[in-house]
Amino acid sequence: MFGFLKKKRVDPHAQLRAALGDHALPSFPGIVMEVLRELRDPGGSAASVARIVAADPALTVKLLKLANTGAGAVRRIDSVQQAIALAGMASVESLVLAVGVREALPTSDAPGFESRRFWRASARRAATASSFARVLHPATAMQSFTASLLQDMAVPLLAHNRPGEYGPILEAWHNREAELDHLENEQFGWHHGEVATWLCDEWGLPERLAEVIGEHHGERGAAPPAVHLVSHIRETDEHPEIDALVAAAERAGLSADRTVGLVTEAWNEADSLAELFAA
Ligand SMILES: [Fe+2]
Repeated sequence: MFGFLKKKRVDPHAQLRAALGDHALPSFPGIVMEVLRELRDPGGSAASVARIVAADPALTVKLLKLANTGAGAVRRIDSVQQAIALAGMASVESLVLAVGVREALPTSDAPGFESRRFWRASARRAATASSFARVLHPATAMQSFTASLLQDMAVPLLAHNRPGEYGPILEAWHNREAELDHLENEQFGWHHGEVATWLCDEWGLPERLAEVIGEHHGERGAAPPAVHLVSHIRETDEHPEIDALVAAAERAGLSADRTVGLVTEAWNEADSLAELFAA
């Protein structure tokens, strides 16, 4: 169990069961598990990881797209070996985990939940966080990218497992009645960031990633500023969200012009990432 959950005296397994109901948790695809095993094997190498990934062309395409968006357009990454050389094993592991999470989550729509809209927002958050992080805290750009892509990962599961209760919460959020984490806390006593940390524990995701995802809505929490800033990006395609983002970015030291420039560029990049993930 994660140290930060132990400190809070939380039993993630029991909490998850209470939040999601008595549903079996989906598991990662076999190829993702195989790549993860190799990445975590002290005897594994960039070449051996690349060999396993190469057996699955769809996984290869997704990983390279993620690596290029996460690393920015400084230099194109053309192979898994190059991604490991440039970003390191830990970053590539987080990208593989992101693909695993995507594959394990429900893909159909549910009350208040539209899969395409959800992944478009997730891709926008990830690409924008990567751009912000390269300016604000470059050392954690890739981590910020993955954490932002997955920050709302609990939402599809909650929408599918508790449609009667969670659907109206999502609708209220989309209608701008309140922020999602406030609505959840009020009704359930937890928010989707916490549910995501319990999921991360269950799925064996890295502790630091779980902690960052868990606090993505807190301005002074464990999340790097870039991850928190993009939590202002909503799923609904309206622009007032940009005002909140610009105001928060100004507090983090980015001018309004700079923020709008970074967001515009990142959202163009995010479209193709969203296509890949929504498919
Ligand atoms: Fe969120």
